[in-house]
Amino acid sequence: MKKVNICIAGGGSTYTPGILIGLIKKKESFPVKRIILYDNNERRLERMGQYSQILLKDYYPEAELIYTTDITKAFKNIDFVFCQIRTGGFKMRELDEKIPLRNNVIGQETCGPGGFAYGLRSIRDMIDLVKAIRKDSPAAWILNYTNPAAIVALALDQAFPDDKRILNICDQPISLLMAYARLLGDIDYKDMIPYYFGLNHFGWFTKIIDKRNGEDITPKIKQLIFKNGFAPADKEQRDPSWLVTYGAVKQMLKLDPTYLPNTYLQYYLLPKETIEHLDPSYTRANEVMDGRDKRVYEQCERVIQHQTTKIDDFVTKELTKKDAHGEMIVEIAEAIFHDQERYYVVMVKNKGIIPNLPEEAIIEVLCTLGANGATPLDVGPVSTYYKGLIEQQYAYERLTCEAYFEGSYLKALQALTLNRTVVDMALAKKILDELIVANRDYWPEMK
Ligand code: G6P
Ligand code: MN
Repeated sequence: MKKVNICIAGGGSTYTPGILIGLIKKKESFPVKRIILYDNNERRLERMGQYSQILLKDYYPEAELIYTTDITKAFKNIDFVFCQIRTGGFKMRELDEKIPLRNNVIGQETCGPGGFAYGLRSIRDMIDLVKAIRKDSPAAWILNYTNPAAIVALALDQAFPDDKRILNICDQPISLLMAYARLLGDIDYKDMIPYYFGLNHFGWFTKIIDKRNGEDITPKIKQLIFKNGFAPADKEQRDPSWLVTYGAVKQMLKLDPTYLPNTYLQYYLLPKETIEHLDPSYTRANEVMDGRDKRVYEQCERVIQHQTTKIDDFVTKELTKKDAHGEMIVEIAEAIFHDQERYYVVMVKNKGIIPNLPEEAIIEVLCTLGANGATPLDVGPVSTYYKGLIEQQYAYERLTCEAYFEGSYLKALQALTLNRTVVDMALAKKILDELIVANRDYWPEMK
């Protein structure tokens, strides 16, 4: 079987071990020749790179792993690029969350003004990255997790309209399916056909079918959520804030049981209640820096010191863990490579899939993934409530991209005003002005 070359852009991310473990698990069906970790943060990459080499020596000696901070060396002869960059790192995420919060507005990395700020930072780096990739590997598949994915997807579509091999993905739908699967008594989430529509971090499951017998299990899932509450599939490993977030699903469902909401809708539909749970002086960024980031990097250092991953049961645990992020990207690459037509919820251009929404919107829907990438299943028109919500959010996303490309202060202000977490234009201006100062090293100049 042909072996593939993969580059992980943002290789210093804490998600890298999970992706490598996903590849280790698939070494028979999706063999890899070479993995390149690329990152512009030398300190992080050095440790993650050494750790990864040891992990592969222990579990995947057939694969070669190199790491580099040199963008001109990262993308030679690559079949798949897995993108997961975070421009500005956790330090900027912290500001994305804290600046809105000190103005009594939701502070979140991908939703509201935080997502807006992060979006304006991500666009330039993602465009540069795609250009560098296309120079050396014109036919590589670019599977992109980089957030805020909704805005990044729109901007890349505008910058590279003819590029058919960029696929924007998000693991949250899979995380939700894994959580339903656990509620249903640990069934395999891959046995579900998940009908879903919306924008990224802004959507709903309309219907979930059990592939094994064709049963519509949506009513059962709703009942179980009402009865038992809702928690992530890996709740034992999750920080408290994620448990609160999953808990909000039950509350949204109680108010409106029509569809199963994505957790991210809490920021738009339950802003008052949600903001109560956010601590303006210790946000999710702090939780991640003190938690996952520290844990993963300490693990890297221990492994480097002992020159083996077999010092404790960390890797064994990881090998058996439910990891939506690592699993999804590897499975999608495999589905494309073997033309397997697997079901996944990913981002695609609307083009009539939802006929009463803009043609050029990037929507998130159920697709089959194969050699030609994502083929969306028809959704049909959406009813007034969803149409209204989605159009407003889409207008916010579109204006954010226009603000970037045109360097337009007014469009930035209009975008923030349209965001349901803000609404008040004077408040939008105050937050925007604070964000401009905080992001001066990253944003284009806005006039
Ligand atoms: C989910 C979302 C991602 C997001 C992540 C943040 O997985 O789909 O888009 O990056 O959550 O998680 P964190 O643990 O860093 O808050
Ligand atoms: Mn996501």
